[in-house]
Amino acid sequence: MIPSDCLVVVVGATGAVGREALAILESRGHPADRIRAVASARSAGSTIPYAGSAIQVSEAGPASFAGARVALFCATSDIARTLAPAARAAGCAVVDNSSAFRADPDVPLVVPEVNGPDVSRVPSPALIANPNCSTILLLVALEPLRAKFGIERIVVSTYQAVSGAGAAAITELQQQASEMLAGRAPQPKVFAEPCAFNVFSHNSAMDEATGLNGEEKKMISETRRIWNDPNVEVSPMCVRVPVVRAHSESVSVTLKHPASESEVREAFRGAEGVVIIDDRKGNKFPTPLQASGTDPVYVGRLRADPGSKRDSAGRTRNHCLFLSGDQLRKGAALNAIQIADLLAK
Ligand SMILES: NC(=O)c1ccc[n+]([C@@H]2O[C@H](COP(=O)([O-])OP(=O)(O)OC[C@H]3O[C@@H](n4cnc5c(N)ncnc54)[C@H](OP(=O)(O)O)[C@@H]3O)[C@@H](O)[C@H]2O)c1
Repeated sequence: MIPSDCLVVVVGATGAVGREALAILESRGHPADRIRAVASARSAGSTIPYAGSAIQVSEAGPASFAGARVALFCATSDIARTLAPAARAAGCAVVDNSSAFRADPDVPLVVPEVNGPDVSRVPSPALIANPNCSTILLLVALEPLRAKFGIERIVVSTYQAVSGAGAAAITELQQQASEMLAGRAPQPKVFAEPCAFNVFSHNSAMDEATGLNGEEKKMISETRRIWNDPNVEVSPMCVRVPVVRAHSESVSVTLKHPASESEVREAFRGAEGVVIIDDRKGNKFPTPLQASGTDPVYVGRLRADPGSKRDSAGRTRNHCLFLSGDQLRKGAALNAIQIADLLAK
Protein backbone atom coordinates (compact mmCIF):
# COMPACT_ATOMS: atom_id res chain seq x y z
CA MET A 1 0.00 0.00 0.00
CA ILE A 2 1.05 3.59 -0.57
CA PRO A 3 1.95 4.75 2.97
CA SER A 4 -0.61 7.22 4.35
CA ASP A 5 2.11 9.83 5.05
CA CYS A 6 3.18 9.77 1.38
CA LEU A 7 2.20 12.88 -0.61
CA VAL A 8 0.52 11.70 -3.82
CA VAL A 9 0.09 14.03 -6.81
CA VAL A 10 -2.82 13.21 -9.13
CA VAL A 11 -2.18 14.87 -12.49
CA GLY A 12 -5.44 15.20 -14.43
CA ALA A 13 -7.43 14.94 -11.21
CA THR A 14 -10.58 16.37 -12.84
CA GLY A 15 -10.77 13.75 -15.61
CA ALA A 16 -12.48 10.36 -15.72
CA VAL A 17 -9.36 8.43 -14.64
CA GLY A 18 -8.10 11.08 -12.20
CA ARG A 19 -11.43 11.19 -10.34
CA GLU A 20 -11.39 7.40 -10.11
CA ALA A 21 -7.85 7.49 -8.69
CA LEU A 22 -9.04 9.95 -6.05
CA ALA A 23 -12.06 7.74 -5.28
CA ILE A 24 -9.77 4.73 -4.73
CA LEU A 25 -7.38 6.72 -2.51
CA GLU A 26 -10.40 8.01 -0.57
CA SER A 27 -11.79 4.49 -0.09
CA ARG A 28 -8.39 3.41 1.27
CA GLY A 29 -8.39 6.26 3.78
CA HIS A 30 -5.47 8.16 2.26
CA PRO A 31 -5.56 11.55 4.05
CA ALA A 32 -6.79 14.57 2.05
CA ASP A 33 -3.76 16.63 3.13
CA ARG A 34 -1.47 14.01 1.58
CA ILE A 35 -3.02 14.48 -1.87
CA ARG A 36 -2.28 17.19 -4.40
CA ALA A 37 -4.83 17.42 -7.23
CA VAL A 38 -3.59 19.16 -10.38
CA ALA A 39 -5.11 19.68 -13.81
CA SER A 40 -5.14 22.30 -16.57
CA ALA A 41 -5.41 26.04 -15.93
CA ARG A 42 -9.14 25.69 -16.76
CA SER A 43 -9.72 23.74 -13.54
CA ALA A 44 -7.40 25.71 -11.23
CA GLY A 45 -9.33 26.83 -8.14
CA SER A 46 -12.13 24.27 -8.55
CA THR A 47 -12.69 21.68 -5.85
CA ILE A 48 -13.24 17.91 -5.83
CA PRO A 49 -15.22 16.32 -2.97
CA TYR A 50 -13.00 14.02 -0.89
CA ALA A 51 -13.67 12.22 2.40
CA GLY A 52 -16.35 14.61 3.56
CA SER A 53 -14.38 17.70 2.62
CA ALA A 54 -12.92 18.99 -0.64
CA ILE A 55 -9.54 19.11 -2.33
CA GLN A 56 -8.66 22.24 -4.27
CA VAL A 57 -7.31 21.75 -7.78
CA SER A 58 -4.22 23.69 -8.86
CA GLU A 59 -2.63 24.15 -12.26
CA ALA A 60 -0.13 21.42 -13.13
CA GLY A 61 3.47 22.54 -13.54
CA PRO A 62 7.03 21.50 -12.62
CA ALA A 63 6.50 22.84 -9.07
CA SER A 64 3.53 20.50 -8.49
CA PHE A 65 5.82 17.68 -7.35
CA ALA A 66 7.77 19.34 -4.53
CA GLY A 67 7.77 17.05 -1.48
CA ALA A 68 5.77 14.32 -3.24
CA ARG A 69 6.80 10.65 -3.44
CA VAL A 70 4.33 9.37 -6.05
CA ALA A 71 2.65 11.01 -9.03
CA LEU A 72 -0.27 9.32 -10.75
CA PHE A 73 -0.42 10.81 -14.25
CA CYS A 74 -4.01 10.69 -15.54
CA ALA A 75 -3.72 13.27 -18.32
CA THR A 76 -2.63 13.35 -21.95
CA SER A 77 0.58 11.94 -23.43
CA ASP A 78 1.86 15.49 -24.02
CA ILE A 79 1.46 16.36 -20.34
CA ALA A 80 3.21 13.14 -19.35
CA ARG A 81 6.16 13.83 -21.66
CA THR A 82 6.43 17.40 -20.36
CA LEU A 83 5.94 16.89 -16.63
CA ALA A 84 7.15 13.34 -15.85
CA PRO A 85 10.83 14.43 -16.04
CA ALA A 86 10.09 17.32 -13.64
CA ALA A 87 8.36 14.95 -11.23
CA ARG A 88 11.29 12.54 -11.23
CA ALA A 89 13.78 15.38 -10.86
CA ALA A 90 11.87 16.27 -7.68
CA GLY A 91 12.37 12.70 -6.40
CA CYS A 92 8.84 11.57 -7.21
CA ALA A 93 8.03 8.16 -8.76
CA VAL A 94 5.71 8.38 -11.77
CA VAL A 95 3.01 5.96 -12.89
CA ASP A 96 1.63 7.15 -16.22
CA ASN A 97 -1.76 6.20 -17.65
CA SER A 98 -1.15 7.72 -21.07
CA SER A 99 0.53 5.97 -23.99
CA ALA A 100 3.55 8.32 -23.86
CA PHE A 101 6.07 5.76 -22.55
CA ARG A 102 4.41 2.42 -23.26
CA ALA A 103 6.72 1.51 -26.13
CA ASP A 104 9.90 2.78 -24.41
CA PRO A 105 12.11 -0.26 -23.67
CA ASP A 106 13.53 1.53 -20.63
CA VAL A 107 10.06 1.96 -19.08
CA PRO A 108 8.37 -1.16 -17.67
CA LEU A 109 4.79 -1.68 -18.84
CA VAL A 110 3.14 -3.37 -15.90
CA VAL A 111 0.04 -5.33 -14.94
CA PRO A 112 0.80 -6.36 -11.33
CA GLU A 113 -0.95 -9.76 -11.62
CA VAL A 114 1.12 -10.56 -14.72
CA ASN A 115 4.57 -8.92 -14.55
CA GLY A 116 4.62 -7.06 -11.22
CA PRO A 117 8.33 -7.79 -10.54
CA ASP A 118 9.21 -5.67 -13.61
CA VAL A 119 8.72 -2.52 -11.49
CA SER A 120 12.00 -3.25 -9.72
CA ARG A 121 14.10 -3.23 -12.88
CA VAL A 122 14.28 0.58 -13.06
CA PRO A 123 16.21 2.99 -10.86
CA SER A 124 14.43 5.15 -8.31
CA PRO A 125 12.50 7.41 -8.70
CA ALA A 126 10.78 5.03 -11.08
CA LEU A 127 8.83 5.74 -14.23
CA ILE A 128 6.31 2.99 -14.95
CA ALA A 129 3.76 2.91 -17.77
CA ASN A 130 0.23 1.71 -17.19
CA PRO A 131 -0.90 -0.37 -20.18
CA ASN A 132 -3.88 0.24 -22.45
CA CYS A 133 -7.15 -0.51 -20.64
CA SER A 134 -8.43 -3.27 -22.97
CA THR A 135 -5.03 -4.98 -22.78
CA ILE A 136 -4.96 -4.90 -18.97
CA LEU A 137 -8.40 -6.52 -18.70
CA LEU A 138 -7.51 -9.15 -21.31
CA LEU A 139 -4.20 -10.11 -19.72
CA VAL A 140 -5.58 -10.32 -16.18
CA ALA A 141 -8.25 -12.72 -17.48
CA LEU A 142 -5.79 -14.82 -19.50
CA GLU A 143 -2.95 -15.00 -16.97
CA PRO A 144 -4.20 -18.23 -15.32
CA LEU A 145 -4.32 -19.92 -18.74
CA ARG A 146 -0.96 -18.55 -19.84
CA ALA A 147 0.64 -19.72 -16.58
CA LYS A 148 -0.74 -23.25 -16.87
CA PHE A 149 -0.98 -24.05 -20.59
CA GLY A 150 0.89 -21.26 -22.43
CA ILE A 151 -0.84 -19.12 -25.06
CA GLU A 152 -0.04 -19.13 -28.77
CA ARG A 153 -2.83 -16.98 -30.27
CA ILE A 154 -5.62 -14.65 -29.13
CA VAL A 155 -8.59 -13.50 -31.19
CA VAL A 156 -10.44 -10.76 -29.32
CA SER A 157 -13.42 -8.51 -30.08
CA THR A 158 -13.97 -5.61 -27.69
CA TYR A 159 -17.19 -3.92 -26.57
CA GLN A 160 -15.72 -0.67 -25.23
CA ALA A 161 -17.48 1.84 -23.01
CA VAL A 162 -17.55 5.47 -24.10
CA SER A 163 -15.77 6.63 -20.92
CA GLY A 164 -12.63 5.13 -22.41
CA ALA A 165 -12.55 8.40 -24.36
CA GLY A 166 -12.70 10.52 -21.19
CA ALA A 167 -15.20 12.45 -19.11
CA ALA A 168 -16.55 14.42 -22.08
CA ALA A 169 -17.67 11.18 -23.75
CA ILE A 170 -19.82 10.24 -20.74
CA THR A 171 -21.65 13.55 -21.06
CA GLU A 172 -21.99 12.99 -24.82
CA LEU A 173 -23.66 9.59 -24.34
CA GLN A 174 -26.03 10.91 -21.67
CA GLN A 175 -27.02 13.96 -23.77
CA GLN A 176 -27.43 12.00 -27.00
CA ALA A 177 -29.57 9.36 -25.31
CA SER A 178 -31.94 12.10 -24.03
CA GLU A 179 -31.98 13.87 -27.39
CA MET A 180 -32.71 10.72 -29.37
CA LEU A 181 -35.45 9.60 -26.97
CA ALA A 182 -36.99 13.06 -27.48
CA GLY A 183 -36.87 12.49 -31.25
CA ARG A 184 -34.01 14.93 -31.93
CA ALA A 185 -30.99 14.12 -34.11
CA PRO A 186 -27.75 13.54 -32.12
CA GLN A 187 -24.91 16.08 -32.47
CA PRO A 188 -21.63 14.12 -32.11
CA LYS A 189 -18.61 16.06 -30.78
CA VAL A 190 -16.27 13.61 -29.02
CA PHE A 191 -16.88 10.79 -31.52
CA ALA A 192 -17.41 11.08 -35.27
CA GLU A 193 -20.43 8.76 -35.00
CA PRO A 194 -23.45 9.09 -32.71
CA CYS A 195 -22.65 7.01 -29.61
CA ALA A 196 -26.18 6.60 -28.19
CA PHE A 197 -28.04 3.54 -29.52
CA ASN A 198 -25.11 2.82 -31.81
CA VAL A 199 -22.03 0.61 -32.21
CA PHE A 200 -18.99 1.68 -34.21
CA SER A 201 -15.37 0.80 -34.96
CA HIS A 202 -13.02 2.23 -32.28
CA ASN A 203 -12.46 5.97 -32.70
CA SER A 204 -8.63 5.80 -32.56
CA ALA A 205 -6.76 6.58 -35.77
CA MET A 206 -7.13 4.01 -38.55
CA ASP A 207 -3.96 2.87 -40.32
CA GLU A 208 -4.96 2.60 -43.95
CA ALA A 209 -2.09 0.25 -44.77
CA THR A 210 -2.84 -2.38 -42.11
CA GLY A 211 -6.56 -1.80 -41.52
CA LEU A 212 -5.84 -1.63 -37.79
CA ASN A 213 -6.94 1.23 -35.55
CA GLY A 214 -4.73 2.58 -32.76
CA GLU A 215 -6.47 0.58 -30.03
CA GLU A 216 -5.95 -2.67 -31.94
CA LYS A 217 -2.27 -1.87 -32.50
CA LYS A 218 -1.86 -1.25 -28.76
CA MET A 219 -3.48 -4.58 -27.88
CA ILE A 220 -1.00 -6.37 -30.12
CA SER A 221 2.20 -4.55 -29.17
CA GLU A 222 1.45 -4.19 -25.45
CA THR A 223 0.48 -7.86 -25.02
CA ARG A 224 3.79 -8.85 -26.59
CA ARG A 225 5.72 -6.43 -24.37
CA ILE A 226 4.01 -7.36 -21.09
CA TRP A 227 4.36 -11.09 -21.77
CA ASN A 228 7.86 -10.59 -23.16
CA ASP A 229 6.71 -12.82 -26.01
CA PRO A 230 7.21 -11.29 -29.47
CA ASN A 231 5.71 -14.39 -31.10
CA VAL A 232 2.27 -14.42 -29.50
CA GLU A 233 -0.36 -13.87 -32.21
CA VAL A 234 -2.98 -11.27 -31.30
CA SER A 235 -5.91 -10.53 -33.60
CA PRO A 236 -8.11 -7.75 -32.16
CA MET A 237 -11.26 -6.01 -33.41
CA CYS A 238 -12.02 -2.96 -31.24
CA VAL A 239 -15.51 -1.49 -31.13
CA ARG A 240 -17.34 1.17 -29.08
CA VAL A 241 -20.73 0.35 -27.61
CA PRO A 242 -23.26 2.65 -25.88
CA VAL A 243 -22.12 1.75 -22.36
CA VAL A 244 -21.03 4.41 -19.85
CA ARG A 245 -18.21 2.47 -18.19
CA ALA A 246 -16.62 -1.01 -18.12
CA HIS A 247 -15.32 -2.70 -21.25
CA SER A 248 -16.27 -6.22 -22.32
CA GLU A 249 -14.34 -8.58 -24.59
CA SER A 250 -15.15 -11.77 -26.45
CA VAL A 251 -11.99 -13.87 -26.47
CA SER A 252 -10.95 -16.97 -28.37
CA VAL A 253 -7.59 -18.32 -27.31
CA THR A 254 -5.28 -21.00 -28.69
CA LEU A 255 -3.26 -22.61 -25.91
CA LYS A 256 0.22 -24.06 -26.41
CA HIS A 257 -0.84 -27.29 -24.68
CA PRO A 258 -4.31 -28.84 -25.01
CA ALA A 259 -6.69 -28.73 -22.05
CA SER A 260 -10.16 -29.96 -21.27
CA GLU A 261 -12.87 -27.49 -20.34
CA SER A 262 -12.71 -28.62 -16.73
CA GLU A 263 -8.92 -28.15 -16.67
CA VAL A 264 -9.43 -24.60 -17.95
CA ARG A 265 -12.02 -23.94 -15.25
CA GLU A 266 -9.68 -25.38 -12.64
CA ALA A 267 -6.91 -23.02 -13.80
CA PHE A 268 -9.07 -20.06 -12.78
CA ARG A 269 -9.45 -21.30 -9.20
CA GLY A 270 -7.99 -18.61 -6.92
CA ALA A 271 -6.84 -16.49 -9.88
CA GLU A 272 -5.73 -13.04 -8.76
CA GLY A 273 -8.08 -10.24 -9.81
CA VAL A 274 -10.56 -12.57 -11.57
CA VAL A 275 -14.14 -13.45 -10.59
CA ILE A 276 -15.95 -16.18 -12.53
CA ILE A 277 -19.61 -15.59 -13.38
CA ASP A 278 -20.60 -18.58 -15.47
CA ASP A 279 -24.11 -19.68 -14.61
CA ARG A 280 -25.27 -21.64 -17.64
CA LYS A 281 -28.49 -22.78 -15.93
CA GLY A 282 -29.52 -19.23 -15.06
CA ASN A 283 -28.03 -17.75 -18.27
CA LYS A 284 -26.02 -15.29 -16.14
CA PHE A 285 -22.65 -14.08 -17.32
CA PRO A 286 -20.48 -10.95 -16.86
CA THR A 287 -22.00 -7.58 -17.79
CA PRO A 288 -20.43 -4.11 -17.85
CA LEU A 289 -23.12 -2.77 -15.51
CA GLN A 290 -22.16 -5.38 -12.94
CA ALA A 291 -18.46 -4.60 -13.40
CA SER A 292 -18.90 -0.81 -13.11
CA GLY A 293 -17.29 0.68 -10.03
CA THR A 294 -15.71 -2.64 -8.99
CA ASP A 295 -12.16 -3.99 -9.07
CA PRO A 296 -12.17 -7.52 -10.58
CA VAL A 297 -12.20 -8.69 -14.14
CA TYR A 298 -15.32 -10.85 -14.48
CA VAL A 299 -14.99 -13.93 -16.69
CA GLY A 300 -17.71 -16.22 -18.05
CA ARG A 301 -19.00 -18.12 -21.10
CA LEU A 302 -16.04 -20.44 -20.52
CA ARG A 303 -16.16 -23.20 -23.10
CA ALA A 304 -13.99 -25.34 -25.33
CA ASP A 305 -14.26 -23.87 -28.83
CA PRO A 306 -17.16 -25.78 -30.40
CA GLY A 307 -15.53 -25.50 -33.83
CA SER A 308 -12.30 -27.24 -32.89
CA LYS A 309 -11.51 -30.95 -32.82
CA ARG A 310 -10.87 -32.58 -29.42
CA ASP A 311 -8.60 -35.48 -28.61
CA SER A 312 -9.88 -38.72 -27.07
CA ALA A 313 -9.57 -37.17 -23.58
CA GLY A 314 -11.77 -34.20 -24.64
CA ARG A 315 -8.82 -31.82 -24.77
CA THR A 316 -8.34 -29.02 -27.31
CA ARG A 317 -6.01 -26.05 -27.62
CA ASN A 318 -8.90 -23.70 -28.50
CA HIS A 319 -11.06 -22.16 -25.78
CA CYS A 320 -13.46 -19.21 -25.56
CA LEU A 321 -14.50 -16.77 -22.84
CA PHE A 322 -16.23 -13.45 -22.31
CA LEU A 323 -15.06 -10.78 -19.86
CA SER A 324 -16.23 -7.48 -18.40
CA GLY A 325 -14.07 -5.15 -16.32
CA ASP A 326 -14.18 -1.52 -15.27
CA GLN A 327 -11.61 0.13 -17.50
CA LEU A 328 -11.56 3.28 -15.34
CA ARG A 329 -10.56 1.16 -12.34
CA LYS A 330 -8.59 -1.98 -13.25
CA GLY A 331 -7.98 -0.66 -16.77
CA ALA A 332 -6.47 2.59 -15.47
CA ALA A 333 -6.64 4.12 -11.96
CA LEU A 334 -6.61 0.92 -9.90
CA ASN A 335 -3.82 -0.70 -11.92
CA ALA A 336 -1.76 2.50 -11.54
CA ILE A 337 -2.31 2.56 -7.78
CA GLN A 338 -1.42 -1.14 -7.52
CA ILE A 339 1.84 -0.32 -9.34
CA ALA A 340 2.45 2.49 -6.83
CA ASP A 341 1.81 -0.07 -4.06
CA LEU A 342 4.52 -2.30 -5.53
CA LEU A 343 6.91 0.65 -5.74
CA ALA A 344 6.18 1.48 -2.09
CA LYS A 345 7.26 -2.03 -1.12
N1 LIG B 1 -10.68 6.76 -19.81
C1 LIG B 1 -10.14 5.54 -19.76
O1 LIG B 1 -10.85 4.53 -19.65
C2 LIG B 1 -8.65 5.37 -19.82
C3 LIG B 1 -8.13 4.09 -19.62
C4 LIG B 1 -6.74 3.93 -19.68
C5 LIG B 1 -5.92 5.01 -19.90
N2 LIG B 1 -6.48 6.24 -20.10
C6 LIG B 1 -5.57 7.37 -20.30
O2 LIG B 1 -5.62 8.17 -19.13
C7 LIG B 1 -5.44 9.54 -19.46
C8 LIG B 1 -6.63 10.34 -18.92
O3 LIG B 1 -7.79 9.90 -19.58
P1 LIG B 1 -9.25 10.38 -19.13
O4 LIG B 1 -10.18 9.45 -19.77
O5 LIG B 1 -9.33 10.58 -17.67
O6 LIG B 1 -9.35 11.80 -19.88
P2 LIG B 1 -10.25 13.06 -19.49
O7 LIG B 1 -11.47 12.64 -18.75
O8 LIG B 1 -10.42 13.82 -20.74
O9 LIG B 1 -9.33 13.89 -18.46
C9 LIG B 1 -8.15 14.51 -18.91
C10 LIG B 1 -7.48 15.17 -17.72
O10 LIG B 1 -6.26 15.78 -18.18
C11 LIG B 1 -6.24 17.12 -17.70
N3 LIG B 1 -5.47 18.02 -18.57
C12 LIG B 1 -5.75 18.39 -19.84
N4 LIG B 1 -4.86 19.29 -20.27
C13 LIG B 1 -4.02 19.50 -19.23
C14 LIG B 1 -2.91 20.36 -19.03
N5 LIG B 1 -2.47 21.18 -19.99
N6 LIG B 1 -2.28 20.32 -17.84
C15 LIG B 1 -2.70 19.49 -16.86
N7 LIG B 1 -3.77 18.67 -16.98
C16 LIG B 1 -4.41 18.68 -18.16
C17 LIG B 1 -7.70 17.53 -17.69
O11 LIG B 1 -7.83 18.68 -16.88
P3 LIG B 1 -9.03 19.74 -17.13
O12 LIG B 1 -10.27 19.11 -16.57
O13 LIG B 1 -8.57 20.92 -16.39
O14 LIG B 1 -9.11 19.94 -18.62
C18 LIG B 1 -8.31 16.28 -17.08
O15 LIG B 1 -8.14 16.28 -15.69
C19 LIG B 1 -5.29 9.59 -20.98
O16 LIG B 1 -3.94 9.58 -21.32
C20 LIG B 1 -5.96 8.31 -21.43
O17 LIG B 1 -5.47 7.85 -22.67
C21 LIG B 1 -7.82 6.45 -20.05
